[in-house]
Amino acid sequence: MANVAVIGAQWGDEGKGKIVDWLAERADMVVRFQGGHNAGHTLVVGENVYKLSLLPSGIVRGTPSVIGNGVVLDPWHLKAEVEKLRGQGVEITPDKLMIADNCPLILPFHRDLDALREDASGAGKIGTTRRGIGPAYEDKVGRRAIRVCDLAHLDELGPQLDRLTAHHDALRAGFDQPPIDREALLAELREIAGFVLPFAQPVWRALNAARERGRRILFEGAQGVLLDIDHGTYPFVTSSNTVAGTASAGSGIGPGAVGFVLGIAKAYTTRVGSGPFPSEQDNEVGERLGTRGHEFGTVTGRKRRCGWLDAVLLRQSAAVSGITGIALTKLDVLDGFDEIQVCTGYRLHGEEIDYYPSNAADQAAVEAVYETMPGWQETTAGARSWAELPAAAIKYIRRVEELIRCPVALVSTSPEREDTILVRDPFAD
Ligand code: GDP
Ligand code: IMO
Ligand code: MG
Repeated sequence: MANVAVIGAQWGDEGKGKIVDWLAERADMVVRFQGGHNAGHTLVVGENVYKLSLLPSGIVRGTPSVIGNGVVLDPWHLKAEVEKLRGQGVEITPDKLMIADNCPLILPFHRDLDALREDASGAGKIGTTRRGIGPAYEDKVGRRAIRVCDLAHLDELGPQLDRLTAHHDALRAGFDQPPIDREALLAELREIAGFVLPFAQPVWRALNAARERGRRILFEGAQGVLLDIDHGTYPFVTSSNTVAGTASAGSGIGPGAVGFVLGIAKAYTTRVGSGPFPSEQDNEVGERLGTRGHEFGTVTGRKRRCGWLDAVLLRQSAAVSGITGIALTKLDVLDGFDEIQVCTGYRLHGEEIDYYPSNAADQAAVEAVYETMPGWQETTAGARSWAELPAAAIKYIRRVEELIRCPVALVSTSPEREDTILVRDPFAD
């Protein structure tokens, strides 16, 4: 029996939330291990739509859920999201939600800095979610962060606050902003501490105890491999490692705890924010994919850029993240196309290459080479078994598997939880 890590294999929004929710029925714990409330995971259960940014998607089914130390946590957002979900009837108690006490906090000036920098960057902006994710991770690595456990010791924070404010006041002065008001910050933290602390604990203990008892752990990634700080389209990436390997360091359990790595990939490609996108279709095809797929960001409402499936990037994601099987989502969005294209290679300065180069200028210069496949006119929307898929759709899936050198384990055919085809059970491996 394997524990499963679910990660995005493209630029995020692949449908991780739906798949995690579906798998969570059979999991004993669901763990977020990186990112923060830059994520937007949508779950559709009958008439109900749940939008989660920070909370693990298992929470909706009532599966015990963990926010690991690799996450950056905005405590005010946490409170708002918990209250919103409670309003939808989801039970969230310290039995159901555990937060790593060594999680770094996102503070109001992180959010300000994120926006100030973006506004000052002109055409060079990253297109972040402006939620303070990057600045909070910088403070973690710079050893200046205030962490969840510090909320119980706010009167002893002096030297740490000195280092934090010295750094930020210098930055803020450059943006014509007043220095941080320490007393006001401490007062805000005192107020929110009472909400956060009941959920806080050294979660590595609970995770390791669950592992010893043979419990099934489901690790829930945010963003996608192409937004990974090392392996993504740097600098147009997020500030954390999104690859499956982070599940271990970001939650406090050994790497052997992750068995099956399920990479989630759309049957086409989308991206939100700036950065290169070789198979982008800034034309009628892209418009059609965006309209059929409702491609608007959950977090910022921004229109997502759309294009054909890029098998070169997907193969690379599968390799660097050790993906065991793919969940191919939104197959239904391809219904009705006469022809479907797949990017199978690149041309860079006249030469053919079969991988994505690291340099940003080369990434932008790459031209996609396509293979054309016949589409299908039948509908796949709502299909729940392989037998319901048209022959051309099966042929497309088989070709994708061949190109990316990785098998398809699941297929998703609508936003609804149960509209999912199981090909190979990740938990059974
Ligand atoms: P995540 O960030 O990876 O969890 O993905 P998002 O929730 O941001 O975006 C995926 C969107 O596609 C959501 O609105 C889902 O409800 C929807 N979705 C998921 N799977 C499918 C599918 O198979 N077909 C269609 N049409 N929509 C899907
Ligand atoms: P989920 O989990 C899609 C993108 C932003 C921007 C870049 C950096 O829903 O798949 P950040 O705020 O993280 O510093 O922004 O990363 N981005 C996402 N794109 N889905 C996400 O999450 C994303 N989280 C961040 O648009 O390009
Ligand atoms: Mg999303």
